[in-house]
Amino acid sequence: MKIHHIGYLAKNMDKAIASFEALGYERETDVVYDSLRDVDIIFLTNDGYRVELVSPKSDRSPVYATLKKLGNAPYHICYCCDDIKAEMERLRDEGYTPAGETEPAVAIGGADVCFMYRRPVGLIELVECRE
Ligand code: NI
Repeated sequence: MKIHHIGYLAKNMDKAIASFEALGYERETDVVYDSLRDVDIIFLTNDGYRVELVSPKSDRSPVYATLKKLGNAPYHICYCCDDIKAEMERLRDEGYTPAGETEPAVAIGGADVCFMYRRPVGLIELVECRE
């Protein structure tokens, strides 16, 4: 499956952006507030690699506890698919469990995304990639 981005937790968004820019990343988007997940999100790219910085705004955010546990760190890889429902079914058969509902991601143009978990792999995200 083609990789869309690597999701990276950031406690302090401004410091994280500056630090990634110093490593050669460029801003692909502005910082977008996702009210569904209570996080700020920005996409950065470096030589074709795309990183999503995710910064929870409060303890209401579903990733707040993950940030507390992991600190500033990568926590999911997001994969492109054509049909998110079909891909979820296929991955269920591979042993993945859905982590939450399939919901639109405002930071990816409202595309449907879902998270799935399997112990040997950890957390993955699926997004319907439209050309
Ligand atoms: Ni993501």
